[in-house]
Amino acid sequence: MKNKISDLNIQNLNSKKRIFSAIQPSGSVTLGNYLGSLKNWQEMQENYDCIFAIADLHTLTIRQDPKLFNENILKTYTLFMACGINPEKSLFFIQSHVAAHSQLAWILNCYAFVGELSRMTQFKDKSKKYSENINAGLFTYPCLMAADILLYDTNFVPIGKDQKQHVEMTRDIAQRFNNLYGKTFVLPESIIPEIGSKIMSLKNPDKKMSKSDLNPESYIAILDEPKIIINKIQHAVTDSNSEIKYHKGELTGINNLITIYSCLTNKTLFEIEKEFEGKGYGHFKKIVSEIIISELEPIQKRFKDFNKNYDLIKSYYNKNSEAASLIAQEVLARVYEKIGLLAI
Ligand code: TRP
Repeated sequence: MKNKISDLNIQNLNSKKRIFSAIQPSGSVTLGNYLGSLKNWQEMQENYDCIFAIADLHTLTIRQDPKLFNENILKTYTLFMACGINPEKSLFFIQSHVAAHSQLAWILNCYAFVGELSRMTQFKDKSKKYSENINAGLFTYPCLMAADILLYDTNFVPIGKDQKQHVEMTRDIAQRFNNLYGKTFVLPESIIPEIGSKIMSLKNPDKKMSKSDLNPESYIAILDEPKIIINKIQHAVTDSNSEIKYHKGELTGINNLITIYSCLTNKTLFEIEKEFEGKGYGHFKKIVSEIIISELEPIQKRFKDFNKNYDLIKSYYNKNSEAASLIAQEVLARVYEKIGLLAI
């Protein structure tokens, strides 16, 4: 009997769909990143074959201070592990450690058109923002991202809304390549979590919560201490109203706090409104900070423990990049063969 069940599990494992995603190493994770991406990734590890990467090569498109960049890559890897990304369950590696990403990116450069690259809104936005450094990497950024995704025969790509256009371009390049050479790449689909873009700044609830916000009061970082969290939530903007009521379609401070509370408790908006009927903002904010603190406490503890054990972290990212390379090499070899490069 037992054997049959385990057989079934093995079958399930083989038929699992593959997920790939990556995040740039900023060295910090906000509550918005956690609720919008990492918490979902952590849950996906149960039902999908997951591959996650730290996209350090993409970060090079904006000028970095080498020392800080180096620290941020390691810190981001460690923070993600603390948030539950498990390198024994998923593949979790550093993009620049798997050479196939750069190799395939070059090849895809030759299949992407200047016209379509110039239409990317991120390129247009970043060329405005960093007008003194509009480098070629910024322009061909989507080709590297396409390489990341296509190297693993990815079915689904969980991303924020802002990356949707890049995944569409990945599909276009993959389709173009398949049309020319026969089926080579799996066409990926993006998954955009509803809640992902919904955690807003605590100071400007019509803007996304972001660690690049100049005002640190506007976001909660995953490593913020309890008293800082209490303070930030206490000073979060609310409405002139005083009810704990969710106003659909509006970007208000109270909606944002209710969303955060809902994500952390899995309670529905209706349940939350009932729970706080007749209560004021002060009371609600106190409960919201408590729940954030208790969610972050084990993460902070894990981060401290991992941080003391650099050798362990290093052995994880090394082992995982070796394993990722094996998969990626196979797909790259497929591409070499199709386009006529000599096999390595
Ligand atoms: N460009 C993405 C971002 O800035 C990060 C990224 C790089 C990515 N490669 C990827 C996301 C592949 C999904 C799939 O958010």
